[in-house]
Amino acid sequence: MSLRDTLGRPHRSLRISVTDRCTLRCRYCMPEEHYEWIPREQVLTFEEIDRLADVFVRLGVTKIRLTGGEPLIRRSLPDLMAMLARKNVDLAMTTNGLLLAERAVALREAGLDRVTVSLDTLRPDRFRLLTGRDSLDQVIEGIESAQRVGFETLKINTVVVGGFNDDELVDMLEFGRRVGAEVRFIEYMDVGGATGWSTKQVVSRKTMLERLADALGAIVPAARDGSAPAERFTLPNETQFGIISSTTAPFCSSCDRSRLTCDGMWYLCLYAKEGVDLKSPLRNGASPDELVSLIESTWQQRADRGAEDRLAIEQRGPLVPLAALRENSHLEMHTRGG
Ligand code: GTP
Ligand code: 5AD
Ligand code: SF4
Repeated sequence: MSLRDTLGRPHRSLRISVTDRCTLRCRYCMPEEHYEWIPREQVLTFEEIDRLADVFVRLGVTKIRLTGGEPLIRRSLPDLMAMLARKNVDLAMTTNGLLLAERAVALREAGLDRVTVSLDTLRPDRFRLLTGRDSLDQVIEGIESAQRVGFETLKINTVVVGGFNDDELVDMLEFGRRVGAEVRFIEYMDVGGATGWSTKQVVSRKTMLERLADALGAIVPAARDGSAPAERFTLPNETQFGIISSTTAPFCSSCDRSRLTCDGMWYLCLYAKEGVDLKSPLRNGASPDELVSLIESTWQQRADRGAEDRLAIEQRGPLVPLAALRENSHLEMHTRGG
């Protein structure tokens, strides 16, 4: 029988964060002035990532997504793509798009199937305010290059923050249509690192759907992509879009994901406080079979329902106090890869 956790969930999707560093400072993710980076010698080499990925694939993983920080900071990322592409998995990447224009062709040729670009606003002034950089045009060029290269799917992730960009939902959908990308609106989440999070800035899935229906007409639910976090919808003009409602309507019961940090810590939940160190056994010469046993027995004990547990809390504030984040950067979303 295939590998299952205590809630009967299989493990299909591995998110690999290849670096904790990022070229932007989005306020919902990295709002602080100063961050401690994982020391370079701790960062897994591509060969080490490849060996771990082999073990996960042996245990049933069929989807691998590279994330960061910003994954394209690793200069020779296409080399890693080529190694992972040999495993016949669905190979995807989430990027902030800044370096995408110059790398899109090499990534596609190396075997990257699907790309998701994070883009929260189409207004240059807001982009600067949100990310700390004046680079909206560069991200748009990145998205357009990805469209020209022709990935299997091109998606845009938009974190909706109340009072900041929630008046741009319709504009984002129009932009997505123009560049041939499916837009997914993400509810602002109280994940580690989101130290400025508050309930009043969350725009719920329900509110987004109401506003979009008012502006654009009746919205029809579309087929969901298995256990994927996004619920999909169709507009009267046939445009499809998604909503990821992790904050107000979590989907933990169908969660088949886990995440590996760039220094080989394995976290089974976005909200998990503890992870499993895979780098040490790997560097100490553990055999593939030994790694299989470790991963298998850990998944079999998994009971995480992080987002659902958060929903049950009445007075919600940031998940992790700043002092704890400073103590352990693995609690940060940008280390864990989203
Ligand atoms: P597809 O394979 O294209 O469906 O991608 P994806 O939606 O799995 O990947 P992406 O990186 O685009 O994820 C979008 C966002 O969904 C993430 O940034 C998170 O905010 C949220 N998300 C992804 N996985 C999880 C998860 O396991 N739990 C929760 N609560 N949120 C998640
Ligand atoms: N809430 C929702 N989404 C977030 N992301 C990062 N921080 C948050 C947050 N606090 C998203 C980014 C990116 C993905 C990897 O994670 O927008 O699309
Ligand atoms: Fe999975 Fe944890 Fe996200 Fe729930 S909160 S969907 S268990 S990663």
